[in-house]
Amino acid sequence: MSIPCASFIRHSSHSPLSASPANQRKKVTMQTLRSLYKKGEPITMLTAHDFPSGYVADAAGMEMVLVGDSLAMVALGMEDTSEVVMEEMLLHCRSVARAAKSSFTVADLPMGSYEVSPEQGVQSAIRIVKEGRVQGVKLEGGVEMAPTIKRVTQAGIPVVGHIGLTPQRQNALGGFRVQGKSTAGALRLLKDALAVQEAGAFMMVLEAVPAEVAAIITKKLRVPTIGIGAGNGCSGQVLVQIDMTGNFPPGRFLPKFVKKYADVWGETIKGIEQYREEVKSRAYPSEEYTYPMSKDDLAEFEKVVDQIHQ
Ligand code: KIV
Repeated sequence: MSIPCASFIRHSSHSPLSASPANQRKKVTMQTLRSLYKKGEPITMLTAHDFPSGYVADAAGMEMVLVGDSLAMVALGMEDTSEVVMEEMLLHCRSVARAAKSSFTVADLPMGSYEVSPEQGVQSAIRIVKEGRVQGVKLEGGVEMAPTIKRVTQAGIPVVGHIGLTPQRQNALGGFRVQGKSTAGALRLLKDALAVQEAGAFMMVLEAVPAEVAAIITKKLRVPTIGIGAGNGCSGQVLVQIDMTGNFPPGRFLPKFVKKYADVWGETIKGIEQYREEVKSRAYPSEEYTYPMSKDDLAEFEKVVDQIHQ
């Protein structure tokens, strides 16, 4: 075990998480992603909403880290994604960007920040990259969003499209529903995908789409698709980190496509309950968690204290 040198020993719980893992990977760039796509190697993407979640996703080798506006619901306790505003997204983008040094980072444009016009879209995208410190933006919508995607791309900002179930439009879609289930629906989806590609998006998320439809669309495109609830035929996959790590209370509804890979909530509650018990019983903090003082100094201190009369 390495012993930290004296000047680096911290005597406060306010110590930073190290910003650069010892075995830092090479930075993932657009070229890296293109080469994975060409080789047919699935691209891995995971959401992160703050410094620790960005750090762990990066350290676990995610090629892409997405500051999704799922932030609103899973980390900020909001009803839906329409509530989160640009300033909140920017704060969380910056925290993730400080941590995710190797992954390619992308953030959602929040609802209301790009639908009015391509100019509004490009202004918001510039803020996300300039102030949020991420490398690209994601925005929801198909054919109707093509002019905005084109404008943002022309400004030199990589765009990830997002079609199928678009949570920002859940009111218009009648809720969180699977998209492209009928022939007409699947054809609409294909048109959206082609429009998003032609507009310049370098990749697109396909959410809640039958696996066969997603696979056919993926084959028709020359840019990668990232599936979430869209089966195994996409060029990569994305999940919401809080969902896949099981960092939520029991009884929460989970979409069918989410696989729970860990039980962060269960482990955390176990630890906190044990801490509570140990504080109540004075088992914590035991001697190993306290700072020592020399016997002589202590004796002297006690002597002085005894002489103080109140
Ligand atoms: O907001 C988000 O986290 C997303 C992913 C689910 C793709 O858009």
